[in-house]
Amino acid sequence: MKTVLVTGGAGYIGSHTTLSLLEKGFHVVVVDNLCNSSYEAIYRVQKLTGKSVDFYEVDLRHSEKLQEIFKQHVISGVIHFAALKAVGESMELPFAYYQNNLTSTLNLLEVMQQNDCHNIIFSSSATVYGEEAIPPYQEQMKYGTPSSPYGASKMMVERILQDMTVASKSLHCVSLRYFNPIGAHESGEIGEDPKNVPQNLMPFISQVAVGKRDQLNVFGSDFPTDDGTCERDYLHVMDLAEGHVLALEWLLKQESLSEMAVFNLGTGTPYSVLQIIQAFENANNIQVPYVITERRKGDLPAFWADASKAKTHLGWETKRSLEQMMLDTWRWQMQNPNGFS
Ligand code: NAD
Ligand code: WQD
Repeated sequence: MKTVLVTGGAGYIGSHTTLSLLEKGFHVVVVDNLCNSSYEAIYRVQKLTGKSVDFYEVDLRHSEKLQEIFKQHVISGVIHFAALKAVGESMELPFAYYQNNLTSTLNLLEVMQQNDCHNIIFSSSATVYGEEAIPPYQEQMKYGTPSSPYGASKMMVERILQDMTVASKSLHCVSLRYFNPIGAHESGEIGEDPKNVPQNLMPFISQVAVGKRDQLNVFGSDFPTDDGTCERDYLHVMDLAEGHVLALEWLLKQESLSEMAVFNLGTGTPYSVLQIIQAFENANNIQVPYVITERRKGDLPAFWADASKAKTHLGWETKRSLEQMMLDTWRWQMQNPNGFS
């Protein structure tokens, strides 16, 4: 049985991926400092799968502790989710974002090298395409101007991984660029649990629906799109989790990679904010009161993935519909009105 280290495995995408890895027969070691998550997510993943996870509450910025974990387990590959991820917060706290996201990654790469671990999958983002790119985004497009320190940290880590892969030949890296992950595991036992006021659309909608917030602010209706609201490529978090398992299986089969492999993970179909509200209302038969407000600074009118490369190379494509995303979001929110707490 191969052992995978999942950093940030207690978080939203990490917990769903840990579940998929366990179901596929991997042994999973999770390292998370719980700065934006709860151990309850790991507890529930174990309950759902009937399998155990080796969990370490460790901050990746402390490399001695990471070193101890690598001494205790033979790690075949790493999936590196751990990062701070709030775009707006990163504009106010740029140092915290660079310090956390870069130091963590550098420590991890150093300890991996010292322990002969050569396979890493990195959580990147559609944000690396920047403001100038014309959708659908394709992997070979050049980096754009980062719109936030968060986005810049993702670009910088990609650059580090690419340079190290080219120099070493023995390091195998995959960068997965996610579009907009939403939804929850179909059990409703794990899902997205924002600690503060949700900044992203889907958790905000579900908190309005459950009565925790009065109404949704729709940020702008004068964009050059069909209905004037922004369009995004929303994908189900379980499709995203399964994409990581396929990427890992692919990576473990590679003899050598001359450069970092990059894959978009999205559906290829954009939906507007108003279409998402409508889809949530229709799927769940519940009203979501909203008002149109000013545009949010930095929002792009529309972007979506060209996801054909992941299909060709990894055999991955999304299976779950928009309706499924809405049903699963609501099941999680209804069953857990206060998240994991
Ligand atoms: P999340 O905040 O739920 O998960 C991140 C996890 O990392 C948390 O559990 C947090 O406690 C942990 N963590 C952060 N810094 C750490 C450190 N120094 N040491 C140990 N643990 C640490 O976020 P998520 O939505 O699951 O995102 C996972 C990854 O995917 C992130 O790298 C994020 O940037 C990336 N990503 C997310 C989205 C999205 O919309 N959610 C889109 C694109 C990319
Ligand atoms: C979606 C749409 C908003 C909240 C962000 C990051 C990106 C990636 C995914 C990590 C936009 C509108 C939102 C609200 C609204 N994360 N909206 N009212 O901005 O596409 O991407 O998360 O890598 O890097 O930038 O996602 O969910 O915040 O917004 O009208 O209360 O919903 O304007 O059009 P976004 P989002």
